[in-house]
Amino acid sequence: MKHRKIFIFGAGSGLGEGLLLEFQQRNHIDPKDSSVAVVDVYGFSRSGKGSISNWQSGTNHRFDLTLEDEIESFRKSWETQCSEWKQNPGWEHTQIIVYFAQGDGLFSPLEELNLLEIQKHFSLNLFSSMRVLQIMSDGLKQMSSSSVVFLSSTAAKFGFPNSTAYCASKHAVSGLAKSLREEWKLWGVKVINAYLGAIATPIWDDRPEFSKSDMVTLEDASRFLAELSDLPDSVYLDEVYITPKKGVL
Ligand SMILES: NC(=O)c1ccc[n+]([C@@H]2O[C@H](COP(=O)([O-])OP(=O)(O)OC[C@H]3O[C@@H](n4cnc5c(N)ncnc54)[C@H](OP(=O)(O)O)[C@@H]3O)[C@@H](O)[C@H]2O)c1
Repeated sequence: MKHRKIFIFGAGSGLGEGLLLEFQQRNHIDPKDSSVAVVDVYGFSRSGKGSISNWQSGTNHRFDLTLEDEIESFRKSWETQCSEWKQNPGWEHTQIIVYFAQGDGLFSPLEELNLLEIQKHFSLNLFSSMRVLQIMSDGLKQMSSSSVVFLSSTAAKFGFPNSTAYCASKHAVSGLAKSLREEWKLWGVKVINAYLGAIATPIWDDRPEFSKSDMVTLEDASRFLAELSDLPDSVYLDEVYITPKKGVL
């Protein structure tokens, strides 16, 4: 039986929460089917209920990805958990999948953005993934199968008005994914850049000019993104681009 450990950063709402629920629902194991994967799924975000120092599968754990002391707590927990997991024979055959679903929107004309909000935006949307990957790097490289999925955006392909910061951070995430893929090729780590069109999540709540009825539903997007965890071994999917029926809104 395959064992999978799924890590979802930004599991408090929207796509991250949708993924957490999707994996929880999928985790009904038929004891007669030896091919079914056992999935442990761990969420992380500010509103998590679980403690960052005591991980429970199926739980969202409290972790502000922009705070250095909380990143340090995550490092300690990751190291402790890894040394426990490594006691299990065949640990290196566990499949690890990391989803980066944390992020916020910053939508204003360039002249109205102040430095602090630009820094906060980049800290969450770009730097936090880099910090977490530095911590998880050894573990991900040791496994016979690891994947990293970035929730990128149409805003990493095109520019939009009042979106300089958002488009810049999303283009940067796309650059991070492309480089990481080359850097970790030697260890066979799959790095998937998922360019997402509009999906009906709370990130759109302050933008009434866009109708959620024109968007991909959260359930459909979560189901689709969860499928990326189950690629055949020899398939390396670099990029995927999805939009709602209307295309780019
Ligand atoms: N929805 C779309 O149309 C769309 C399209 C393309 C790309 N995306 C990208 O998908 C990602 C998820 O967005 P979403 O649409 O699901 O929006 P969302 O519902 O606003 O989700 C944002 C997530 O980030 C977490 N988060 C925010 N600040 C955090 C912090 N400091 N530390 C840890 N976690 C934090 C939130 O949880 P807490 O509040 O609990 O911290 C929440 O889980 C974003 O990167 C977004 O750019 C979305």
